[in-house]
Amino acid sequence: MDPRAAAVDDRLAGVDRIVAVTGSKGGIGKSVISTSLALAWADEGRRVGLFDLDFTSPSDHVILGAAGHFPAEDFGVDPLLIEGVRTMSVAFFSGEAAAPLRGGDVTNTLLEMLAITRWGDLDILVLDLPPGLGDIALDVVRLVPRTEFLLLGAASRVVIGSVRRALRLLTELQAPIVGVVENLGRDGDDSVAELAGQFGVPFLGVVPYDPGLEDALGDPQRLRNTRLFGTVRGIARSVAG
Ligand SMILES: Nc1ncnc2c1ncn2[C@@H]1O[C@H](COP(=O)(O)OP(=O)(O)OP(=O)(O)O)[C@@H](O)[C@H]1O
Ligand SMILES: [Mg+2]
Repeated sequence: MDPRAAAVDDRLAGVDRIVAVTGSKGGIGKSVISTSLALAWADEGRRVGLFDLDFTSPSDHVILGAAGHFPAEDFGVDPLLIEGVRTMSVAFFSGEAAAPLRGGDVTNTLLEMLAITRWGDLDILVLDLPPGLGDIALDVVRLVPRTEFLLLGAASRVVIGSVRRALRLLTELQAPIVGVVENLGRDGDDSVAELAGQFGVPFLGVVPYDPGLEDALGDPQRLRNTRLFGTVRGIARSVAG
């Protein structure tokens, strides 16, 4: 067994809940919604961590406007405290450099990051997963089996089938599912809510398309004032009220 796997348990010992935001498709809003969930929980006084697990294309530091900072190291690495959220991302180390990872490199990077990051005591750690239910998602299930998955879907014919597959896979793996959220909601189409019902998991709400979101990225204060954030705040309360 990799000795780092035991170190991972130690590093996460003070974390009460771990919520992974996933969606089997790319570009479905995982990063904006994970980051907004983390901010919403922090605003309510919770001790929150945010871990960007998209090693090849991290986004959370961009959404939080946190480029150019470097975490402190002292027998491990302390996440950066940004707007009340303890944040960790490979972007703090690699900057804008590309991170070409393949095969076992992905698992190794995940293990390394989990083994060095000092989260301390947290109420909730949010994991922002990369697109697809591939290596990272499967490794998270294996290494941190208590992780609860929040699945993002959209009412589109090209998305709904992959949401169904994701629900099946997570169910087969016996991974806890905290619920399903629909992003980019469309009036009159309840297919995502119906799918959640078929699997007997909570449907947590619909996030609307928000034309004001783009201008708010990089500025957490503006982000908090968006329509998207208002909806996510409600979802945050129903996940951890
Ligand atoms: N509800 C929304 N309204 C408006 N824009 C949105 C909404 N949700 C997501 N976006 C925009 O869509 C783009 C993709 O969002 P995001 O990066 O969060 O997706 P992702 O699922 O994390 O993507 P990836 O799979 O690449 O990690 C971003 O530009 C984001 O601002
Ligand atoms: Mg993302």
